[in-house]
This record gives sequence, structure tokens and C-alpha cells, in this order.
Amino acid sequence: MNAIIFKESGSWTDTLELTETILNEPAADEVQIKILARPVNPSDEMFIKGIYRQKPSLPQIAGLEGTGIIVKCGPSIEKSLVGKHAAFRTPGTWAEKINLKLSQFRLVPGNLPPETACQLSLNTLTAFALLEQAGLSANQWLLLTAANSSVGRQIIQLAKQKNINVIAIVRKDEHKNLLFSLGARAVLNSETQNIEEEIKTITGMGANAILDAVGGRLGTILFNVAAPFGKIIIYGRLSNENVSFSYGTVIYKNMKMEGFGIDSWMKSKTEEELGSIWEELTTLASSGALYINYDEIFGLANYKEAITCYKNTGKRIILK
Ligand SMILES: NC(=O)c1ccc[n+]([C@@H]2O[C@H](COP(=O)([O-])OP(=O)(O)OC[C@H]3O[C@@H](n4cnc5c(N)ncnc54)[C@H](OP(=O)(O)O)[C@@H]3O)[C@@H](O)[C@H]2O)c1
Repeated sequence: MNAIIFKESGSWTDTLELTETILNEPAADEVQIKILARPVNPSDEMFIKGIYRQKPSLPQIAGLEGTGIIVKCGPSIEKSLVGKHAAFRTPGTWAEKINLKLSQFRLVPGNLPPETACQLSLNTLTAFALLEQAGLSANQWLLLTAANSSVGRQIIQLAKQKNINVIAIVRKDEHKNLLFSLGARAVLNSETQNIEEEIKTITGMGANAILDAVGGRLGTILFNVAAPFGKIIIYGRLSNENVSFSYGTVIYKNMKMEGFGIDSWMKSKTEEELGSIWEELTTLASSGALYINYDEIFGLANYKEAITCYKNTGKRIILK
């Protein structure tokens, strides 16, 4: 089968190659899945660079997430799974097929477009989990950075369903209308507006919870706009720059600072809880109540063009 592999960690524009590889028959406790779609996520670049929490096993097939159709079952697996659709988050998705154990995938409704289903396992679960960790009630204020990201757009929609007020921070005005239409109460441009002043004017006391994926100069401002007893949850490092904050601000506001990683969050849940969250999210996605966007589709073999497009435009890319 064709697969996009890397033999050493490094820049994804230099290290990836399209190769013909052999995929074994599924083991007794595995299914074989024909992969129908994979998103290009920031974590894919980090994985190839070797700086993601999951380390590659070289030579490694790229890609950490996807969806597909079960085409074969190992001898110990119920044959009725053949033909069912599955979504998964595991290394090796930038290939035509993958063998997975039952614990490594979840079933998705067959009517869900692959472009949507391939994004559920990481960003949709992350959006749900971040909102849960923020712990806000109706009418409280939630501040989001990198709000035009896939995670950000889904948080806005899930928060709206709970009547939580979202202030979305972007760095390009062209994203404002879409985020308003998804349910943001305010959308601010961190490059052109004094967001500190604006947030204080909009909220009065500041934001009750802040979800930050950027850090750096923007992250530094966030400490000043948190409400008393407010919480900052850090879940991404898009700027790659550190944040500086004053102990005084944290002390006198009785603030909390928390990290979020999807793997530890998943480990904190029972299988039953995860199953019911998955059911809720797939139902929302299939009914159209949760819109999961993408901008462009590229064939798997055209991964170089896809990465160039992703780097140059920041568009949400699906490899099919
Ligand atoms: N902790 C976890 O478990 C976890 C799980 C999933 C995702 N994440 C993180 O969540 C974040 C979003 O992921 P995604 O897949 O949703 O992203 P995405 O759809 O690819 O979008 C990336 C967004 O980040 C913005 N951005 C990039 N660099 C930026 C910078 N220096 N300053 C401000 N904004 C910047 C882009 O803004 P423009 O639109 O202006 O280009 C774009 O809107 C990433 O940091 C990812 O690593 C974390």
C-alpha cells in the first residue's frame, strides 16, 4: 500500500516521502481499516519533528488521526464489524490502510462525511473536554485565543448550546463574521485592537475562564483580563514563546492556572463516560448541530501541496 513515511525526525517539508509498504493481515484481535480521510493538524507537524508527546518509531508512517471503513477482521473479532465506519487517533494514518485493536477506534455513523468523522477523535473531543474543564455556568464569560482554529470553532458552538458567553480572539478580521455566526458574543483582533481594554469593557470583571493555545505576548495579556477567581487553561503553544505574568496578579485575583492534554483527560474518564460523550458528539455532528469545518481536500499522494497550502494559508486541510 502507499504510505507517507519519515525515516528521521525533522521538518515535514523535508523528511516525508511517499513509499510503497507492506501491511500485514490483521492480527487475531485487530481489524483492518481502509482509511477514507485524515485531517492535517498542528500535532502532525510536531510529531514529525519529534517534539510531540507521542514519539515516532522510525521509520514511521505520518499522521495521527483519521476515519475509515472496516474491511477485514482478525479471527477473534466479530465479523459483523466489516462495513462499519470508524474514527481513530493513533500514529500511522497517512497510509491507505491501518490495522487497529478494538480499543484503538470508535464507531461512527456511516452517514457522517469522512471529512467530518476524521476530525472527531482529537479536536471535537478536545473542544468538549476544554469546555468541561472550564466549568462555566450560563451567562459567564469564556475567552478563547486562536479562536478560528478547528478546536476554537467547535468550542464556540458547544459553549453557545450552554448559553456561555464567548469572546473570541483572532488575528485576522476576515474570520470575524464566521465566528459571530457560530455563536461568539464578541470577536476581537489581537493585532489591531486593544483587547485588554475591550475585554474589560465587555465583561466588566474580566473573563471567568480563558482557553489559551497561543502563549507569548498574547498569553501575557490574558492574566490581566481574567476575572477574580478566574481560570486560565493552557492547551497549545502556537506562538512557541513563553508568557510572563506577575505573581501579584495571580495572588490578588485568586486565579487558577491549569494545563490540558487530551490523553490525560481521556485517562481520567471511564470507558462508559467516554462512550456516552462520543455518542453525544457524533449525534451533534450527524445532525448538523455541530459544524466541523474544512477548507480544502488533497489526495494523500499530494501531501506536499497539502502541507504547503496549510503552511501558507492556515487553511484546514483534509487528505483523502
Ligand atoms: N492539548 C491538547 O490535547 C490539544 C488537542 C487538540 C489541539 N490542541 C491544540 O489546539 C490548537 C488548535 O489546533 P487546531 O487543529 O484546531 O488548529 P487549526 O485548525 O490548524 O488552526 C490553527 C489556528 O491557530 C492560529 N494560530 C497559529 N499560530 C498562531 C499564533 N502565533 N498566534 C495566534 N494564532 C495563531 C491560526 O490563526 P489564523 O487563522 O490567523 O492563521 C489558526 O486559526 C493547537 O495549538 C493544537 O496543538 C491541543
